[in-house]
Amino acid sequence: MTVAEIFDTMEYGPAPESTTAAERWLEERGRAFGPFIDGAFRPAGTETFDTVNPADEKPLARITQCGEADVNAAVAAARRAQPGWWALGGHGRARHLYALARQVQKNSRLLAVLETLDNGKPIRETRDIDVPLVARHFYYHAGCAQLMERELPGAVPLGVAGQIIPWNFPLLMLAWKIAPALAMGNTVVLKPAEFTPLTGLLFAELCRDVGLPPGVVNIVTGDGRTGEALVRHPDVDKIAFTGSTDVGRIIRRATAGSGKKLSLELGGKSPFLVFDDADLDGAVEGIVDAIWFNQGEVCCAGSRLLVQEGVAERMAEKLRARMETLRMGNPADKAVDLGALVAPVQLERVTRLVQQGVDEGGTMWQPSWSCPREGYFFPPTLFTDVSPTATIAQEEIFGPVLAAITFRTPDEAVALANNTRYGLAASIWTENVNLALHVASRVVAGTVWINSTNLFDAASGFGGYRESGFGREGGKEGLWEYVRADWDAARHETAGSEKPAPEAPTTTPEADEEATPGALPTIDRTTKMYVGGKQARPDGGYSRPVLGPGGLRVGEVGEGNRKDVRNAVEAARKAAGSWGRAAAHLRAQILYYVAENLAARRGELARRLDSMTGAGAGPSEREVDLSIERFFTYAAWADKYAGTVQATPRRNFTFAVHEPIGTLAILCPDDWPLLAFVSTVAPALAMGNAVVAVPSERHPLAATDLYQVFDTSDVPAGVVNIVTGSRDELGQVLARHDDIDCLWHFGSRDEGARVEEASAGNLKRTWCDLGLPRDWSDPDQGAGEDLLRRAIQVKNIWTPFGE
Ligand code: NAI
Repeated sequence: MTVAEIFDTMEYGPAPESTTAAERWLEERGRAFGPFIDGAFRPAGTETFDTVNPADEKPLARITQCGEADVNAAVAAARRAQPGWWALGGHGRARHLYALARQVQKNSRLLAVLETLDNGKPIRETRDIDVPLVARHFYYHAGCAQLMERELPGAVPLGVAGQIIPWNFPLLMLAWKIAPALAMGNTVVLKPAEFTPLTGLLFAELCRDVGLPPGVVNIVTGDGRTGEALVRHPDVDKIAFTGSTDVGRIIRRATAGSGKKLSLELGGKSPFLVFDDADLDGAVEGIVDAIWFNQGEVCCAGSRLLVQEGVAERMAEKLRARMETLRMGNPADKAVDLGALVAPVQLERVTRLVQQGVDEGGTMWQPSWSCPREGYFFPPTLFTDVSPTATIAQEEIFGPVLAAITFRTPDEAVALANNTRYGLAASIWTENVNLALHVASRVVAGTVWINSTNLFDAASGFGGYRESGFGREGGKEGLWEYVRADWDAARHETAGSEKPAPEAPTTTPEADEEATPGALPTIDRTTKMYVGGKQARPDGGYSRPVLGPGGLRVGEVGEGNRKDVRNAVEAARKAAGSWGRAAAHLRAQILYYVAENLAARRGELARRLDSMTGAGAGPSEREVDLSIERFFTYAAWADKYAGTVQATPRRNFTFAVHEPIGTLAILCPDDWPLLAFVSTVAPALAMGNAVVAVPSERHPLAATDLYQVFDTSDVPAGVVNIVTGSRDELGQVLARHDDIDCLWHFGSRDEGARVEEASAGNLKRTWCDLGLPRDWSDPDQGAGEDLLRRAIQVKNIWTPFGE
C-alpha cells in the first residue's frame, strides 16, 4: 500500500494500550474488594457481584454489595473526621487536595486503563479527557480551599456529604463530587455505580497513599439499595446525585423535609443547532464529539440535531460519510473512536429505543461496517425525518443515536430546542455572532457551547434547568452546594430545641364573634386576590377572618383555592418572559418606585401591622422602614448581580450569566408579615422572576395593602400575584404545578416536607426553611446574598475565539 493510498483510506493497524499494569493491580488485590471506610479497606463482604469488562464480557473483579452496616460505619467515620478536617483550615485542606491532584497525575495511566476496562470507553477519552479533567478539578479546588476564608466569609461546611454517581464518567464524577466537598471542609461517603466501581476504589488507595486523614473520604460499593441507605441516613447533611431523572425524583421524595441539602444532575436531551451559515465540516466534527463521545452515554450528549432546512441534506450526506470512517472496537486501542456500552441492560435499552424510532416512522441509517461480535457494542446511528414528538426526540437514549429534525427560522429553532422537559446543555453552530448569542440567551439550558461542544472545566459550573436537575458542579457556584452561613449552621444545631413555627390561627369566625362582644360591626371589606395586575374575587367565594391581638377581627381575606392558584400561575407565566428580559436598570427603577410609594403610605401600613400583630407603633414603623430599605437594597442589586467571565483554560470567553428561574412561588412566614414578604419577593423580582406569593397566613393584610402600591409603581401586570389563604393547601397546589419553576417555603417542617415531596413532579427547585427561626430584620438573614443566589440560575455560555 502506498503512502497516498494510506492517506486516502486512513487504513491503519491497531495501537493497543497495554493493560498489564491494570490487570496486575487487580490480581494483587485478589480481584475482590470491600468498601473503603475510615482510611482502610474492609474485606470483601458476603454479598458480592461482578464488575465486567463490557468489551469482552469477562469479569474483572468481585465487588461488595454494601449493606446498612457498611453505610452506617462509613457515615460514622466521616462524621468523626469532619471537625478535624475543617479545623485544618483552608491552607491545610489545599495541601491535601493539591497532593491528590499530583497523585492522580502520577497514576494517570493506570487510572485511564482501569476506567477503560471497567466502563468500555475508548482509552483515548479516558487518557486525554477524563483523567486530565480529574486532576484539574483537584487543582482548582485546592485553590478554592486556599481562598475559602477570604472569598466566602462566614461560610461553614455542611458536615457529611453522601454522594452517588453514575457509570458513564466514574472517575470524573467522583472528582466533581469529592473535590468541592473536601475543599469546603466537608467529609464524604461516596457510592460509585455498580457497573464501574474500580477507579473509585483505586482513588481510595491514592487518598490513603497521600496521607489523607482517615474518614475524610469513604467509598461504599453496591447498587441502588446501598444508594438508598445513604440517602436515608439521618446523619448525612447533603446528598449530591448524578444519574437518571427517575432516581433523582425518588431521592427528592426520600429527602423531603429532612433538611439535607440536595443537588441533582440528571438526564438531558440536548439540542445541537446548525444554522445554514455554519461551517458544516466543523459542525460535523462537533456532532461526532456531541453524540459519539463516550458512545453517547453522556448526560449532555447533543442527541437532537436541529438543522436549518437549506443545509439539512448536505449535512446528512457529510455526516453519513463521516460515520463510515468512525472506528469501533477494542476500547484499549488508541485508534478507536467508539467503545462498548456499559452493560447488557444499556444495550437492550438503546436497541429498544432505536426500534421504536423506526416504528414511529424515522429513517434510520447506520454505517456499512459491522460491530465486534463480542461485547456490548452498538453502531453509531442517524435518524432523519424525525417528528419532534417522536419518542427518540424526547427520551434520553444514552447511546450513540442521533435524531435529526429540520427547522426554518431561528425562532422555530429555539422553540424546537426548548421542546423538551430537560435543560442541560445546547450547542449552537453559526458564523453569525449576533444570532449565536441571541439563540444562546433563549435556549433553556445550563451550559451553552457556541461553535463547540462538550467543553468542560473546573472553573465553569455545570448543571441543569428544569428536569435536568438543580445545583451546579464546578465554578464558584458549585461551592455553594457544600456550605451554609454560620448563623444558619447555628440554628440547625439548635434545631432540636427550637420552638416549632407558630401555627396559623384556628379561631373560627364564631369564636371570634364571641371574643368581641359588643363590638360595632365593621364595614365589610374583604380583601381580594391580586392576579395579573387586577384584584380578583376568590374563586370559591369564601373568605377567612384576619384576627388581631385578643382574637379581634381586623379584616377578612379571600380563601384561595386551586383555581385561584391556576389563574395566578398563568398570569405569572405570561409576564415572566418580558420581565426576565427587561433591562436590569428598568427593574431597579420600578423597585425604587415601589419603595417611594411604600414610604408615602408608611403610617397607614404601620397601623395595619400593629392592628394585626399588636407589636406597637414603634416596632411596626420600624418594620415598614426596613421594608422600604429592602426595596432599595434589591433595586440596587438588580443591575449588579450579573455574573462573571470564567477563566477556563482554552481560548474562550466563558460567560457565567445569571438568568431568572422563571415563575417563582413564595410561601411567606408569619413572623415579620410585611418585611418577610418584601425580603423574599423583592430579590425574586430584582433578578427577573415573576412571582406568585402567598402572604403570611396569620397576618396577610400588610401584603394585600401593597396592591395599590404595585399598581401605582409601574409593576407590569402579572409580575407579582398574591393569593391569600392556607399556606399548607396553597403550597401543595403550587408545588405540584408544572408551570412553577421554583418554590420557596417558610413554614413548619411538616409543611415543608409535604411541599418538597410534591415538588418532585417536575423537579422544581425548592428552598424550605423547615420552621427554623430567622430574624428577617438582620441584614445577613433577611437580605443576604443567598436570597439573590436562590433567585437565579447560572447559564454558562462558552464562546471560543480564534481564526
Ligand atoms: P441510575 O440513576 O439508576 O444510577 C445512577 C446511580 O444511582 C447509581 O450509582 C445507582 O446505583 C444509584 N441508584 C439507583 N437507585 C437508587 C436509589 N433508589 N437511591 C439512591 N441511589 C440509587 O441510572 P442507571 O439505571 O444506571 O441508568 C438508566 C438510565 O439513566 C440511562 O439509560 C440514562 O438514560 C440515565 N442516566 C443518566 C446519567 C446522567 O449522567 N445524567 C447517568 C447514568 C444514567
